[in-house]
Amino acid sequence: MTLLVTGAAGFIGANFVLDWLASSQEPIINLDKLTYAGNLETLSSLQGDARHVFVQGDIGDTELVNRLLAEHQPRAVLNFAAESHVDRSIYGPGDFIETNIVGTFRLLEAVRGYWGTLPVGAVSDREQAPSRSETAPTRNDFRFLHVSTDEVYGSLAKDDPAFSETHRYEPNSPYSASKAASDHLVRAWHHTYGLPVLTTNCSNNYGPYHFPEKLIPLMIVNALAGKPLPVYGDGMQIRDWLYVKDHCSAIRRVLEAGRLGETYNVGGWNEKPNIEIVKTVCALLDELRPRADGQPYAQQISYVTDRPGHDRRYAIDAHKLEAELSWKPAETFETGIRKTVQWYLANPQWVSNVQSGAYRDWVNKQYA
Ligand code: NAD
Ligand code: TYD
Repeated sequence: MTLLVTGAAGFIGANFVLDWLASSQEPIINLDKLTYAGNLETLSSLQGDARHVFVQGDIGDTELVNRLLAEHQPRAVLNFAAESHVDRSIYGPGDFIETNIVGTFRLLEAVRGYWGTLPVGAVSDREQAPSRSETAPTRNDFRFLHVSTDEVYGSLAKDDPAFSETHRYEPNSPYSASKAASDHLVRAWHHTYGLPVLTTNCSNNYGPYHFPEKLIPLMIVNALAGKPLPVYGDGMQIRDWLYVKDHCSAIRRVLEAGRLGETYNVGGWNEKPNIEIVKTVCALLDELRPRADGQPYAQQISYVTDRPGHDRRYAIDAHKLEAELSWKPAETFETGIRKTVQWYLANPQWVSNVQSGAYRDWVNKQYA
């Protein structure tokens, strides 16, 4: 059996591949366009490993996706590929529409075509389809798992209950609107065509290999470089944080046992205001890599103009995933953030490599 995983040179997709192949012989075909956020260096430990097949390409390239599906006959397609950064979506929404909406639509269509060619029935019926190899999946076994975000639900007021799966969609940024659109397409492809889909809506991730334009890695990297730590607005916006490996374990669990057509919210009950996150990162760095001048890193905090349309609060109610699929995160925020800071301290080369080229040019253009 094989998985086709899209966007698996990015932060979460690559963590998923590393995790999966640490405990499974089942190969992964990794289809990734290698945008600024895609970085094969993250997967360098898999060089020469036949279980990881990398293909550079776009989820919207129907010919390519059709070929990969026919050639590798995956039992599941996991769609991580997306434009993922809210700030970028504000400055240039076009790529978000193209990949997150049009790309997902094209991927769904290609997968629907492939799924229609699979033999009907359970695994035990395979011999009834003699033209297929022993390892081909059946229509019943196949899954399309769409990886999405809690941002589709919009912003919560201070005392609102956390987002459950039935919360209305109210996306506010071009990013979250494009992800919401993709979720609706996935839902419709199940409802209309019967495609066996699963959707996960996860809270903010953090951990190793996170591109340093997102809050936590940016704060670590800027602090170490002696740069300001830009906190948007009053810093009291709340995000709900989950260690990336726990997101990966949730996706595995949903793939294994999720009910078809269902959505599952993924989160670790870790709501924190941004300023608390930044101060925690500073305190860990004070402990693990004190500044040469003995001053606290928190001195570098700099309040800057708020993000336009900035959502005030996200919070995930993960009861469904916990109760139905017995999933639990392995890390608390305290253990996860310590591991994350330690990882960035141990991997300065990875950081400097991703900060070169396109990333640097973009930052220079936006913030010059
Ligand atoms: P990322 O930006 O780090 O990685 C995205 C990957 O997708 C990159 O490797 C990029 O090259 C690839 N890609 C972009 N456009 C593509 C295209 N058209 N065809 C093929 N590949 C393409 O993002 P991430 O943080 O790893 O997020 C992965 C998924 O998880 C996204 O769908 C995102 O919406 C979702 N998500 C992210 C978070 C988070 O906190 N980062 C939380 C919940 C959900
Ligand atoms: P981010 O990591 O961009 O994720 P998202 O916007 O998808 O939640 O931002 C997390 C929070 O941190 C968000 O409220 C915006 C804020 N933020 C800052 O205050 N300063 C920064 O430099 C960045 C990148 C984010």
